[in-house]
Order: sequence, then structure tokens, then C-alpha cells
Amino acid sequence: MTSPSASSPPPLSPPLGLSSSKVLLLGEHAVVYGQPALAVGIPQGLSASISPPADPLLSSAPCRLLVPTWSNLSVHSDQPDAPVALALRAILSALGLSGHGLTIHVDAQIPPGVGLGSSASLAVALTRALATYHNIPLDFATLDRVCMAAERVFHGAPSGIDHSVAASGGVVRFLKGPILEPLSLASPLHLVIGVAAPGASTHLMVSGVRARVERQPKILHPIIQTIGSLVDLGVAALQTSNWTTLGELMDINHGLLCALGVSTAPLDQAVYIARAAGALGAKLTGAGGGGCIVALAQDPPSQHHIATALHTVCNEVLCPTLT
Ligand code: PMV
Repeated sequence: MTSPSASSPPPLSPPLGLSSSKVLLLGEHAVVYGQPALAVGIPQGLSASISPPADPLLSSAPCRLLVPTWSNLSVHSDQPDAPVALALRAILSALGLSGHGLTIHVDAQIPPGVGLGSSASLAVALTRALATYHNIPLDFATLDRVCMAAERVFHGAPSGIDHSVAASGGVVRFLKGPILEPLSLASPLHLVIGVAAPGASTHLMVSGVRARVERQPKILHPIIQTIGSLVDLGVAALQTSNWTTLGELMDINHGLLCALGVSTAPLDQAVYIARAAGALGAKLTGAGGGGCIVALAQDPPSQHHIATALHTVCNEVLCPTLT
């Protein structure tokens, strides 16, 4: 690839890598122990574009990554310990690239670190953009391997659900492996997602659950299995548009996540506000300790009503409808 002269304007770079964000309707944490989970890809996600060096002198500079909507995040691939720089390095190395001279611009339509899978969406968008830019064929197994390397930086030992759903979009039943079963909806799924508090570290939340399970195995192993069972009942309810049952299972799942120790007062408060505003079910979503709740609405007017109620305690509220 030839570099433009120093005086030429930076080339227009169309987005090369897209990804969804995700919300877990049922099954977080238990999925780490081999239970199924029910996840929904949210079309609001990330797009990444790549610019070559504007000056040939910059062609050996470290790869730069800019995410203006995440408080003007700016890192480069030689930075020693910033987690995003470590993840970028993990992706470049797994793809066999140096990334030298490249600038990657990311347009992120979701907030980072609140349980919507932002780090996984970033990994998928970066991997897709770099693979397209360098003409590297990218099947799902390769994407999974590369994104897993990045996700380990943030999450320690992730199940892989976040980047799998960020890549696939849609509604899926997920099993660690990864085994993804795309699910079709007979009628629209109306959700409300509220960012109830700043997010906590997924790594710390997952290791906190592991420590609690090790302290109380007799009580918590059955709870993890029960979460797996309610996921499969939830999958059947979702496929038949039995929203009342799905909502009830979400409520039960929230209770079981409280038993695992991952809910907090702001998450519980948002869950109760959503239910009082007519949600068929509501629960924390993602790793917990902060971040988001997800509520199931009967129809668009109810979705609007729940969103209005959540605005009193949530900084940001999203109302995705999946068809
Ligand atoms: O990173 P989060 O908040 O989207 O949570 C991921 C889901 C967990 O089950 C808590 C962890 C995992 O790797 O599956």
C-alpha cells in the first residue's frame, strides 16, 4: 500500500468493522459454569474505520485507536498497561499484524463498562476492520479466537458470550464452547434498558461469584443449575411470545443473581421501579455490581411508560425492539 504525500488530506475511511452491543435476558454468571444463556444483540453498537499513515515518516509509528464518544479515549499499541491498549495488542498479535502506522477510529453508540458488552463490541469491530483492511479471511472460529484474546484482558476467564453476540446480533441461546443457536421471534420483543449505576469490573464480579460458590457449594451449585433450567424455559417462552412467562422468569433470575451476590441497591431500585411501571419482568443484566437493568414490556406504550419511570433513576435509557 502506498502512503499519500505529507500534504494530502487524510483519506476518507469508510467503516470496515461493525458490531452489535448485547443484553443478557437470562443466564449471566451461570453461563461461566457451562449453563445456557439467552442473549439479545442490540443494533446500537460500534463501527471501526482505519486510516493509513498520513505521512510516510509515520509508517512505523504504533497503531493508534481513537474512540471520541468514550471521553475521547486515545491509546496506542505500545502503551504499557492501559487495558484498551493491551486488548488492541492482543488483537493485532492474534491476527499476526503489527498495525504500524494505522489509525483506527471507532464510533461507539453505547456507553462503556455498563454491562452492554462494550469491550466485546470493540474487539469485534476492531478485528473485523483490521481483517478487512488486510484482506485476512475471517471465519467465526478465527473471530472467536482473536476476540477471546482481547476479552481475557478485561474479563480474565470470559464465557465468550459477549463477543459471540456482538458478532452475530439477533436473539441467541448461547452455551460456552461457543455454541450459538439463533432464535426467531414470532412477534416483536420490546425491551427497556436502564443504566442504573457506574459499571463494576466483570473480572472482579465473576471472581466474587466463584469465591461465594466455593464457600457455599451446596447452596449455590443448585442455584446455578436452576438458572440454566430457567433459561431453557425462557427460550421456549420467547419463541412462543409468551411474554408473561418470560417476564416471570426474568424476575426469578434477578432473585437468583441476588443470591449470587451481584446485585446492588441502585440495581434493585431500578428493577422495582420498572416492575411498578408495568414491566412484565425486570432484572439486572451483565456482571452486576452496577451497570444496567433490562425490563420486558408488553407493547410500545408500556415500553415508553417504563422508560419514563426509569429516567428518574437512570442516566441513560435505551428502548430496543427486536423483530
Ligand atoms: O461483561 P458483562 O457485564 O456483559 O457480563 C458478561 C456476562 C458474565 O456471565 C457475567 C461473564 C461471562 O463471561 O459470561
